[in-house]
Amino acid sequence: MSDIKIQKPEGKLGILLVGLNGAVATTFTAGLLQIRNGFGKPFGSLTQMATIRIGKRIENNFPMIKDFVPLAELEDLVVGGWDINNYDCLEAAKEARVLNEKDTESVSKELERILPMKGVFDKNYVKNIDGTHIKKGKNKYELMEQLREDIRKFKNENKLNRAVVIWTASTEIYITKNSVHQSIESFEKGMKENHPDIAPSMLYAYASLAEGIPFINGAPNLTVDIPAILELAKKNSVPVAGKDFKTGQTLIKTVLAPMFKARMLGLKGWFSTNILGNKDGLVLDEPGSFKTKEESKLSVLNTILQPELYPDLYGNFYHKVRINYYPPRGDDKEGWDNIDMFGWLGYPMQLKVNFLCKDSILAAPIVLDLVLFMDLAQRAGLNGIQEWLSFYFKSPIHSPNVVPEHDLFIQQMKLKNTLRTLMNEETITHINAKLA
Ligand SMILES: NC(=O)c1ccc[n+]([C@@H]2O[C@H](COP(=O)([O-])OP(=O)(O)OC[C@H]3O[C@@H](n4cnc5c(N)ncnc54)[C@H](O)[C@@H]3O)[C@@H](O)[C@H]2O)c1
Repeated sequence: MSDIKIQKPEGKLGILLVGLNGAVATTFTAGLLQIRNGFGKPFGSLTQMATIRIGKRIENNFPMIKDFVPLAELEDLVVGGWDINNYDCLEAAKEARVLNEKDTESVSKELERILPMKGVFDKNYVKNIDGTHIKKGKNKYELMEQLREDIRKFKNENKLNRAVVIWTASTEIYITKNSVHQSIESFEKGMKENHPDIAPSMLYAYASLAEGIPFINGAPNLTVDIPAILELAKKNSVPVAGKDFKTGQTLIKTVLAPMFKARMLGLKGWFSTNILGNKDGLVLDEPGSFKTKEESKLSVLNTILQPELYPDLYGNFYHKVRINYYPPRGDDKEGWDNIDMFGWLGYPMQLKVNFLCKDSILAAPIVLDLVLFMDLAQRAGLNGIQEWLSFYFKSPIHSPNVVPEHDLFIQQMKLKNTLRTLMNEETITHINAKLA
């Protein structure tokens, strides 16, 4: 039991999407407006559709999550954000070619009114795209200050009580942690000296936390996963979460791999490949951005299978992930997995998965849930890394002294038990065989 006090979700909540013109952002925004107007249902969203068991099994008490925890109402959400292109959200949604015309037309008036603020961008960090709607400043510190000013202005103009910033912009090149990321002091000095290892995404994260606003990273960029930004989150008592939305192939991987381990079935090789034709696919066609994504996708199997504990089963498997840019498919990603496994006496077996998914359709409900849960976390006084939201990420940020949790169903249990704890209910451990 906890004595956590949660502030009520009074007034309006701003959602500031970095990459407002992108496929994920526009699919989310158009979907939110559709749902709010009663034209569509929020499939894929736990906050809107899932129940949570409270108490013992014999009590038969399964409220909706949104009735159990005090979440912001969909009517109170105000969408805004930044992009390096200057399209209104209707035009951008059409350009993204995820939703049918009837779905964008039915909310066209509202979509047209949502326009991006100028972004902070540097082509050195995302080489395959360009923009025209970009801020100018004498150094990175000044650009970060401009982002802070944007946040304050957006809050004032829309009479918001609270806001959440979420990175749904392109994947940046691979950067490793180093001394400039080590403390607030070194990071601020680095921004003033235009240090090359400070990427635009870090400036958005810094600005958001400096304004006391939760930040979520939906891409695999390093971004918040550095000591300086985590220190700022603690100092200003703000929650952060990331990184890289767990949507298609990795979602499947984090369900299948725990099953192999649970049954002590061995693994010889796992070859994963994708074809993808949207702008994200174009960005990931560049080796620097692909390396960031590859690292995020590869980390999953080793952590789940623990080869150090099970050398006979998992000591020597081959794991390869490929993403191929294939324009004809647009946002309709096709993922193939070939899994070579073995059982009793080492006899080989194969499993093939062919997932014909829609990338942004899987990501949009994750955006909604993360925004609502991060706002809840903020009102509950939780700060720093929100590991209970690992459920939504391919590469969950975790404290340095623990390993990340990748198993989808352990992640789900952790999420639900956190909600129970926040609401002063017993956590569910499934160990009382008679009643639990
Ligand atoms: N769709 C999924 O299933 C999924 C899953 C995991 C992660 N992601 C990540 O989410 C991100 C968005 O995906 P998407 O398909 O919407 O991509 P997208 O290319 O359609 O959209 C990205 C948008 O970000 C904008 N942008 C780029 N750099 C910017 C900057 N510095 N400031 C402001 N705007 C900027 C671009 O102009 C573009 O409009 C990508 O990083 C992707 O890897 C997506």
